[in-house]
Amino acid sequence: GRTFFVGGNWKCNGTSEEVKKIVSTLNAAQVPSQDVVEVVVSPPFVFLSLVKNELRPDFHVAAQNCWVKKGGAFTGEVSAEMLVNLSIPWVILGHSERRAILGESNEFVGDKVAYAISQGLKVIACVGETLEQRESGSTMEVVAAQTKAIAEKVTDWSKVVIAYEPVWAIGTGKVASPAQAQEVHADLRKWLQANVSAEVAASTRIIYGGSVNGANCKELAGQPDLDGFLVGGASLKPEFIDIIKAAE
Ligand code: 13P
Repeated sequence: GRTFFVGGNWKCNGTSEEVKKIVSTLNAAQVPSQDVVEVVVSPPFVFLSLVKNELRPDFHVAAQNCWVKKGGAFTGEVSAEMLVNLSIPWVILGHSERRAILGESNEFVGDKVAYAISQGLKVIACVGETLEQRESGSTMEVVAAQTKAIAEKVTDWSKVVIAYEPVWAIGTGKVASPAQAQEVHADLRKWLQANVSAEVAASTRIIYGGSVNGANCKELAGQPDLDGFLVGGASLKPEFIDIIKAAE
């Protein structure tokens, strides 16, 4: 079985006071056990150690990015080796904001995912189409190309969670309908079956992101190919606990 996975992507938000408050709310929450739901929160780099040190041990921490290869003369970057050195187990790679705003290509994201795994990190790899791409009927073509660039370089799929995040649903309040999400998740699983292996298709978690909240999470969680969530805005609020509980 695929253990339900709930990630909280805090993006570029928070002060140390706000971060401490979120952590104490999470620490006090009654949630299902780790064999029912894997919970990972992703603060900005500067708060990683604070969160790592104060967060309950059954929740884990992810960075929001890392450098594409071994660290060195790359001003402003953070390397996979540094995350491993801090015992940060996870990293989010290929988020649409980095693809669109920072210009990360499919190939660059594939290289990052492979390098991060080679250093011992587990990766939440993000894919997803824009509204224009959906309306022109190219959703699966776009998502398949993004996944292919990752699949060409990854051998250990036990270290990967795929996050399907339609760009039009991110931060817009326009959540994908359960049927829309399920359709892409099922197509992605078929793609993995045809292009990687039946085992990888059956075991890889495919999680949904884009305007997930406490009210819409339960119906989405009921979709057969939806294995969890990557939550942005709502992960900064106590509502995140309700989303974790959607695993039950
Ligand atoms: P929102 O939940 O704020 O739409 O963000 C989703 C997201 O981008 C998570 O990575």
